[in-house]
Amino acid sequence: MAAHPVIRVSGCRKTYGKTIAVDEVSFEVDDGEIFGLIGPNGAGKTTTLECVEGLRVPDRGTISVLGLDPFRDVYKLQDRIGVQLQQAQLQKRIKVWEAVYLWASLYRRRPSDGDRLLEQLGLADKRDAWFMTLSGGQKQRLFIVLALINDPDVVFLDELTTGLDPQARRAIWELVRGIRARGKTVFLTTHLMEEAERLCDRVAIIEHGRIIDIDTPERLVARHCPERTVMLTTNDPIAGERFRAIPRVDEVIGQDSRFTIRGRGDDLVTNVIDCVSENRIRVTDFRTVIPNLEDVFLKLTGHSIRD
Ligand SMILES: Nc1ncnc2c1ncn2[C@@H]1O[C@H](COP(=O)(O)OP(=O)(O)OP(=O)(O)O)[C@@H](O)[C@H]1O
Ligand SMILES: [Mg+2]
Repeated sequence: MAAHPVIRVSGCRKTYGKTIAVDEVSFEVDDGEIFGLIGPNGAGKTTTLECVEGLRVPDRGTISVLGLDPFRDVYKLQDRIGVQLQQAQLQKRIKVWEAVYLWASLYRRRPSDGDRLLEQLGLADKRDAWFMTLSGGQKQRLFIVLALINDPDVVFLDELTTGLDPQARRAIWELVRGIRARGKTVFLTTHLMEEAERLCDRVAIIEHGRIIDIDTPERLVARHCPERTVMLTTNDPIAGERFRAIPRVDEVIGQDSRFTIRGRGDDLVTNVIDCVSENRIRVTDFRTVIPNLEDVFLKLTGHSIRD
């Protein structure tokens, strides 16, 4: 199936005084995918997202969303997108249900079932609570409800699970997958590599306002971090010699009965297993170390995303 972009960003640049927040950023988000912009604090994620949402105007470059100009066609677009902002507030004494009804009334489209959304996001028992009495994570979940209330075609989520506990995080990942399952497009930012890896179909890695690479998490790992490591324990005296003969093995380190076998490519693990089985090597422990998106980030930028 040919990819059909719903968001196109080309040569986008945004400066604040002397700060270049976003520089020559270009990418496309395809219809029906979960696309993630990942990078450390201050990388330019929110700036990029808010330019696409029409909330900020880039100094240079072109952006289209669902074929519309986010700034010029803001009223047309508003009805078809949903936005969760990283820093958002509501009146202290607005009740949860009031916020949901108010938001629903702002759209010409038939709104989603607000109570059902509250239920899905674990806020049903907070329906009558004042906004100011919600915990940080509950406020965040309410903003996700508000972003979904107009049943949008494209949903923008900025740092969607920051500050949430692991259980709430998993529930929201499921919800986001559900949005995709209904044929919608999701554009999110995160600095959580695990979130990007588990949730996103494709990710763009951004640092210092520039996109370093874009692809599926699997392909990014395969491209930048092909190293594979197997660690195993055996008392077999011929084991070291046999392991060194495995195709695509770069290094075998043996220390007493513990071996570390390093190589590259997806076949390495299978090749080690075949070698163990063919030579009837008795193994008492077997572990693999497979790189992830975190390692890709480290390789591409020279530092961890959390530094
Ligand atoms: N309104 C603004 N005025 C001045 N500088 C800004 C403004 N908004 C962002 N910046 C600067 O632009 C850069 C990018 O900020 P941005 O908020 O886009 O980063 P981010 O990737 O979303 O970071 P975070 O992970 O902390 O949310 C930063 O250096 C920031 O200080
Ligand atoms: Mg941000």
